[in-house]
Amino acid sequence: METLHAIRTKRAVRKYSEQAVPEEIIRKILDAGRRAQSSKNTQPWQFVIVRERATLKQLAECGRFAAHLAHAAFVIAILTAREWAFDTGQVAAYLQLAAWDLGVSSCIASIYEPARAKKILGAPDELFFEIALACGYAAEAPHAPKIGGRKKLAEIAHWEKW
Ligand SMILES: Cc1cc2nc3c(=O)[nH]c(=O)nc-3n(C[C@H](O)[C@H](O)[C@H](O)COP(=O)(O)O)c2cc1C
Repeated sequence: METLHAIRTKRAVRKYSEQAVPEEIIRKILDAGRRAQSSKNTQPWQFVIVRERATLKQLAECGRFAAHLAHAAFVIAILTAREWAFDTGQVAAYLQLAAWDLGVSSCIASIYEPARAKKILGAPDELFFEIALACGYAAEAPHAPKIGGRKKLAEIAHWEKW
């Protein structure tokens, strides 16, 4: 898939089929994620890949809008050494665009109870855990976007000066 086409078409998908995603595909997605840029190239992220249904259900209870984690084919928990939301956003975007390119849909879930979530994963308490990605083959078409789906470029782009 062309990069621009992937960027234009990617949507958040929260319902997944029961079809498992082959590990080879998961590894390709993770490999794209590890190539993301980061401040001073610190690459502060660690991924925990979860496929066990019981664990997915527990994680789904760690966010207010995280129910989709319970039904994912797999979840990528993104843990970072420092609270660098920008770096987490970068790696999430790479993971999600690579997944989309490979036919795998995804949706972020914000983790509201990181301490509980880290305990579930057995992850070190000193790491930050704000974002988990639910992934799987889509079982729904994405919701119709509100008009245009995104703000028009003219609403957000200021040339030379505000
Ligand atoms: C930082 C961040 C946190 C998000 N948290 C959640 C969440 O907790 N639950 C959820 O269902 N979607 C979450 N999303 C997904 C957004 O709702 C989604 O990306 C947005 O609505 C655009 O969807 P679209 O690309 O299909 O238009 C989050 C997205 C971002 C970037």
